[in-house]
Amino acid sequence: MLKKILSVLLVVMLVAGLAACGQQAQPTGPDQSTPTQSTPSESTQPKKNEGKLVVGFAQIGQESGWRDAETWSILNAAEEMGVDLKFSDGQQKQENQIKAIRTFIQQGVDVIGVAPVVETGWETVFKEAKEAGIPIVLVDRRAAVSEDLYATFIGSDFILEGQNACKEMARLLNGKGNIVELQGTVGASAATDRMKGFAEELKNYPDMKIIASQSGDFTRAKGKEVMEAFLKAYPGEIHGVYAHNDDMALGAIEAIKDAGLKPGVDIKIVSIDGVKAIFEAMVAGEANVTVECNPLLGPQFFQVCKDLKEGKEVPKWVKSEEGIYRQETAAEDIKNRKY
Ligand code: AHR
Repeated sequence: MLKKILSVLLVVMLVAGLAACGQQAQPTGPDQSTPTQSTPSESTQPKKNEGKLVVGFAQIGQESGWRDAETWSILNAAEEMGVDLKFSDGQQKQENQIKAIRTFIQQGVDVIGVAPVVETGWETVFKEAKEAGIPIVLVDRRAAVSEDLYATFIGSDFILEGQNACKEMARLLNGKGNIVELQGTVGASAATDRMKGFAEELKNYPDMKIIASQSGDFTRAKGKEVMEAFLKAYPGEIHGVYAHNDDMALGAIEAIKDAGLKPGVDIKIVSIDGVKAIFEAMVAGEANVTVECNPLLGPQFFQVCKDLKEGKEVPKWVKSEEGIYRQETAAEDIKNRKY
């Protein structure tokens, strides 16, 4: 027990220290405004790390339970696999993630991992990493850059998740009804593709339509706020909520209850992620389906980093295996959830 408490404390200290390290005095300003160094000078030229694998990871922030699980997976895997990890929390800001990447380049890490908060605006800093000979690994979200600017993408098929969410909604509504959509962060690949997948699949159900769609930024608080507005704008007209993540669905559930309605019954709830809290809501009969999106990417991430350091070929997409979980089996399924 004591060993467990000590190791948790160690991880907390590590996150705090490394987060600070990733945000230290580095060139500031948005991506495009910082000139690209074509040939790094001798003093900034990263040195090859002998022995231990040194990895920088620019995390998005802490917007959801899913994100916390991903961070935990990365910290834990680094400890278990003996990786020297430099971790930075971008606090939901792309400029912080870009600063962290520049810090990692100056520190001469072997590989840089990044979960891009939004898809665009990465070319300049990725080119800087390439010129310094440091491969970029995209973790869980994609960046809109040419394929030569990153080594691999590790993560889910967000379009498929959106399609599966729509099929589940059609099953719950018998193919007929009005849906409101809670989008993730505007410009994030997870939001764009989940919206696209759902919309594509929706074409197969002419009696089902999205009557309102707005961003809740992947957070519970904003999910609740947006749902309150939807309930006011469409009283008695909403049959289903499609949320791009579980946290926003949990916020929507609160709003529906506050409005005197029964979530999961009066209004069906379909979301994406598979965090424990949504399983609890399903067990309570307040949510209907979650389409899984796996955040436990740490072991795969460091294996890829190791392979890259050893000069091995890596696939351009390391795809996650994911399931679909329904209210009917939630009480059993929750026992096996790891996040
Ligand atoms: O990029 C994955 C998404 O980001 C998750 O679905 C969401 O919960 C998170 O914040």
